[in-house]
Amino acid sequence: MTTIPTDIHDADATWDRSYADGADASIWAELPFVGDALDALRARERGPLLEVPCGGGRNTIPLARGASFVTAVDRSAAALATAARALARAGVANSLLVRGDVHALPFPDATFGSVLCADLLAHLHRPQEALAELLRVVEPGGRIYANLFGTEDSTRHDPGARPVADQACVFRDVYFRYYDAAAVRETVCVPGARVLALDELRWSEDPHPGYRDYPHAHHSHLVLLERI
Ligand SMILES: C[S@@+](CC[C@H](N)C(=O)[O-])C[C@H]1O[C@@H](n2cnc3c(N)ncnc32)[C@H](O)[C@@H]1O
Repeated sequence: MTTIPTDIHDADATWDRSYADGADASIWAELPFVGDALDALRARERGPLLEVPCGGGRNTIPLARGASFVTAVDRSAAALATAARALARAGVANSLLVRGDVHALPFPDATFGSVLCADLLAHLHRPQEALAELLRVVEPGGRIYANLFGTEDSTRHDPGARPVADQACVFRDVYFRYYDAAAVRETVCVPGARVLALDELRWSEDPHPGYRDYPHAHHSHLVLLERI
């Protein structure tokens, strides 16, 4: 059982700052599993694709190039402004940016054929509630591809990371939970979904100036779900 810290109140400000001042270069590197995610989602794509969160839009660009249409959602207005500039620069027209929260998405049931949810669930205290909401907006047979941070991710040992539970820390006011395989299964086995695939990926990233100023190693669990 993870103890939920009660003193985190400024995660939104941290996200906003990371996209602030009209920054056109998002600090978030393009994720190395987006191509595989797109293949897995396209294999069953019927309706439009939802990306939540989209952050500064780095993953939105390859998604839009590979799908018929992408609706990209983030809670941060600064992220959406950065994403809008990135999409315009890339000449991407088949996308729509929408401000929203993954816990209460502004869409009717079964709006989308598939969803990419990258680098969000492991920041949430109750990821199963977010998964339930993602399942609500996906049509039956539709797919959700998501990642959860793994226990070998080096960011848990960041100099500024403050442990708040056995497998969780807070870094710059943002909550990070690190999952082992059993915790992943416990989290993603939610009512209304079938687990189609579970995988793991490890990769290195260069420093993100002003946020994480040193090379670091990532480890994520990759999850592919199908709405029953
Ligand atoms: C690490 S970034 C990942 C962004 C994007 N997936 C990427 O790979 O570039 C996390 C993003 O989640 C957004 N976010 C945090 N909590 C959210 C929520 N409850 N609903 C929607 N977006 C949220 C933040 O604003 C931030 O842009």
